[in-house]
Amino acid sequence: MRILVITGAGISAESGTPTFRGKDGYWRNFDPTNLATPKPFARDQNLVWEWYCERRHQIREAKPNSAHDAIARLSISAREFLLVTQNVDDLHARAGLAKEKMVQIHGDIFVTRCSRCDFSRIEPEQEHSPSVTPARSDSAASEKLDRFKRASLKDEEYAEVPRCPACAALMRPGVVWFGEQLDTKKIEIVENYLNRGSCDLVLVIGTTALFGYIVDWALRARGENGELIEINPDETPLSSLATKCIREPAAIALPQLISKL
Ligand code: OAD
Repeated sequence: MRILVITGAGISAESGTPTFRGKDGYWRNFDPTNLATPKPFARDQNLVWEWYCERRHQIREAKPNSAHDAIARLSISAREFLLVTQNVDDLHARAGLAKEKMVQIHGDIFVTRCSRCDFSRIEPEQEHSPSVTPARSDSAASEKLDRFKRASLKDEEYAEVPRCPACAALMRPGVVWFGEQLDTKKIEIVENYLNRGSCDLVLVIGTTALFGYIVDWALRARGENGELIEINPDETPLSSLATKCIREPAAIALPQLISKL
């Protein structure tokens, strides 16, 4: 089978990492314009870095769940396979999915890149930079949450934000922020895959599918005759266009679905 899988934050929900728009999702508690656009970074790099450090820590503590495992198995049995994930975590890779079969269209949270030149690096497991250590106690965590919500640290001083070793500009997380362009090389990988032919099966898992390119890729991949299955407990803009909707958590639905293919 020729397969395209598209995933969003919902697939990692059962690994314990929050979604963006769900109950307890990031964008329910924090204003994205304070944390995930170039503007707050220009204003207050410490706050933004602190938030991404927290998330890196949270992801490192998380483990791939049975949905990530099932997709990794599917990638091996499929004749042709591509995963387009909006997730910046590494849970698909840790489940064993080969890097060349995957596009992280919104970037990789473990990449730190220069805000000016092309320099980038992948952060090691034990990360000490930037200076802010992740919250470990409940009270420390809730204090940080308050700060993220208020998003004003003007009166507080933190140790230095990382600087580019090549050009000394500020380093930033290797993720796509609101208002930024997607990486053209990554778009090209997806477009090339779609241009080589339609898919027998398109799985769209755990995403609100709010971005036009996600809906567009899913529909184009499916073509005239392919099956488009949505796995999501809730309805999305793609639901009415899918050939089948499975209203269950991915970690339950996917292993069953994939074992029947
Ligand atoms: P959202 O938080 O918008 O949506 C998560 C989706 O997962 C929702 O539709 C939930 O119903 C669904 N869901 C929750 N638990 C689930 C489970 N156990 N199994 C299956 N589905 C479940 O996350 P995304 O759609 O990934 O962008 O968000 C897209 C982008 O918006 C993110 O990549 C991020 C964000 O702003 C950037 O950072 C650029």
